[in-house]
Amino acid sequence: MSIRNLDDLLAEGVSGRRVLVRADLNVPLDKQTGAITDDGRIRAVLPTLTALRDAGAAVVVCSHLGRPKGAPDPKYSLAPVAARLGELLDTEVAFATDTVGESARGVVEALAAGQVALLENLRFNPGETSKDDAERGTFADQLAAFAEAYVDDAFGAVHRKHASVYDVPARLPHFAGQLVLREVEVLARLRQEPDRPFVVVLGGSKVSDKLAVIEALLPTVDRLLIGGGMCFTFLRAQGHEVGKSLLEEDLVDTCRELLERGADRIVLPIDVVAATEFSADADHEAVPANQIPADRLGLDIGPRTIAEFADMAGTARMVFWNGPMGVFELAPFAAGTRGVAEAISHVKGFTVVGGGDSAAAVRALGLDESSFGHISTGGGASLEYLEGKALPGIVALEQ
Ligand code: 3PG
Ligand code: MG
Repeated sequence: MSIRNLDDLLAEGVSGRRVLVRADLNVPLDKQTGAITDDGRIRAVLPTLTALRDAGAAVVVCSHLGRPKGAPDPKYSLAPVAARLGELLDTEVAFATDTVGESARGVVEALAAGQVALLENLRFNPGETSKDDAERGTFADQLAAFAEAYVDDAFGAVHRKHASVYDVPARLPHFAGQLVLREVEVLARLRQEPDRPFVVVLGGSKVSDKLAVIEALLPTVDRLLIGGGMCFTFLRAQGHEVGKSLLEEDLVDTCRELLERGADRIVLPIDVVAATEFSADADHEAVPANQIPADRLGLDIGPRTIAEFADMAGTARMVFWNGPMGVFELAPFAAGTRGVAEAISHVKGFTVVGGGDSAAAVRALGLDESSFGHISTGGGASLEYLEGKALPGIVALEQ
């Protein structure tokens, strides 16, 4: 099965044609001010948009932001994203205050060759995420009516069977954008025969999000380093008390079974930073991972673990990292994520940072993005790709 890509579309000629681009502009926003705290996902789609503009297309961009419940919610408006996109493209981006309604129709009709418009949040419409094929189809008809061709450059959303990802490409000539193409190429390298030692570093808050990828990668990894909130369920499975730390009680047995199977490969923290509460001002100290006080919660991996993880990751030939090692947004608990990220940035082999959060951490901590082989824009999407799942967005492009 072959996927047609942006070059194929450009070869056909797009001058004066309207092209609908599905992007993943789901960027993190500051809870207080609503300002964009990391514009990495907007930057990632610029090459595709610029190529289309330069070729004379009228470019209609659509995206989701957050998880609104199928109705407009000002908290999740893409208006600030339209402004930022305009700054980065150095052009006016026309913003439609609805997705397929009067505003959108007006904006799309007025769009000239080389111009860019952004539609309001796709998830303000129940049809976008509906489980009902007909309901998604009706919404997809409305979106498809805006253009003569469809480009999917929303790698972060290819694992969602949503109207704009799965149903629109069935209605229009469809092409993979440059970002989707590059992401798939890079991740395919990890799924094939890896360079060794192959080290996978997993963090983030929930074990439940990572079980499938652990299952899938366990047979091929040389080492699997586990930090972040998810490590406490594993520590519990080893019989340790974890105090008030994050714990997924119902997964303790599953973790124990994984630890047995991966005894020679899975590495857990030997110490953690334990705090009195979830706050930057909380009293905190590093304690052995088997001596977490009952009234404290672990918010980062400890200094001995950082050294061990940095050593193991640093000597790898191939590294995949997904998920922060601690609550890096709070300065006292950022050392684990920073230490591991720095070690990975010095690896002489091929390194991939997977995920919205880990990618944002790299930038928030001021690390040099170019010192990593690839920084994925997809969290769930990159994990599901590595799990070997069929991704609806990719399947749709193949058909
Ligand atoms: C993400 O941030 O992981 C993607 O934008 C997908 O968002 P979702 O998990 O809300 O579908
Ligand atoms: Mg997500």
